[in-house]
Amino acid sequence: TRPLKVALLGCGVVGSEVARIMTTHADDLAARVGAPVELAGVAVRRPDKVREGIDPELITTDATALVKRGDLDIVVEVIGGIEPARTLITTAFEHGASVVSANKALLAQDGAALHAAAEEHGKDLYYEAAVAGAIPLIRPLRESLAGDKVNRVLGIVNGTTNFILDKMDSTGAGYQEALDEATALGYAEADPTADVEGFDAAAKAAILAGIAFHTRVRLDDVHREGMTEVTAADFASAREMGCTIKLLAICERAEDGASVTARVHPAMIPLSHPLASVRGAYNAVFVESDASGQLMFYGPGAGGSPTASAVLGDLVAVGRNRLGGTTGPGESAYAALPVSPMGEV
Ligand code: NDP
Ligand code: HSE
Repeated sequence: TRPLKVALLGCGVVGSEVARIMTTHADDLAARVGAPVELAGVAVRRPDKVREGIDPELITTDATALVKRGDLDIVVEVIGGIEPARTLITTAFEHGASVVSANKALLAQDGAALHAAAEEHGKDLYYEAAVAGAIPLIRPLRESLAGDKVNRVLGIVNGTTNFILDKMDSTGAGYQEALDEATALGYAEADPTADVEGFDAAAKAAILAGIAFHTRVRLDDVHREGMTEVTAADFASAREMGCTIKLLAICERAEDGASVTARVHPAMIPLSHPLASVRGAYNAVFVESDASGQLMFYGPGAGGSPTASAVLGDLVAVGRNRLGGTTGPGESAYAALPVSPMGEV
């Protein structure tokens, strides 16, 4: 079988782990996909940076030329941000590749247009890694729960802020000290304002609400409050009431079913609640639906290796689709269902 050619856009915290696992697990990946998976090029900003385990000949600073090669099967976008990621993804579709991305900021802003571009060219757009790191959530919502009716998705979807809040609560660490540690561990966004002001969690809430409720929800539709105002005194008061403080994302379908809401804000959580026990950069998400009742998804929500796990899962799924001459569920699969207008938040 011919090898599947994969280009990696970005080789930072996530991309370097994707490349490492592609190399070290090459045989397993080939067995899972049904063909060898070959790293065909790696686009970065700084070409001279030492990148362990990567053939220097694969490195380029010209991401546009890489996605225009025309012989790529899959482009993995782990650069982040809106541009050039958006143009690179659409260019990849135009030149015959499917795309795997971890870019929640872009998907929360332009998910519908990117799905439309993928479908126009008969390609896949997968992004399990965009929400809650290693935790499978997108595919369970889109596929496993497709026959059920989801009413609520609620939980901790940002590892950096959970790490900071946990440190502040359990060790008395200061906000800045905890944020610096989260950044050093590779949990924070390139601009950690996205984490601490709730933009990252709001982007994830938008993606989850859109898929869970079969509608379109964008970042701007999500009510957002970050956690920068939470102080040691707040934790002391919460303790007195048998609670801790977590940054929650809450996506709900209105009781009449006619609208959905999504919001992100700090919340008091009783210590007896499972969300209170979510430590460090772990995430936990409850999904409530008519037939299943309540499901809980829990695991590492940030960091290079956990996120690479989700990226590689998508790589295998998209690789199988390519070999089978098919694509996975796209936007039309769920845009065909009734679209609820956004309610007030
Ligand atoms: P990093 O900042 O660590 O890596 C970004 C990479 O993109 C770097 O290799 C950088 O090059 C490269 N890059 C930046 N601009 C360009 C450009 N114009 N052309 C080519 N390459 C470019 O980010 P992360 O790996 O942490 O995050 C990547 C994506 O994954 C983001 O969308 C993020 O939101 C998402 N994500 C991150 C998680 C995490 O825990 N870190 C978890 C889940 C998702 P260079 O190395 O030369 O600087
Ligand atoms: N900065 C994000 C977080 C990365 O801390 O959750 C994972 O999406």
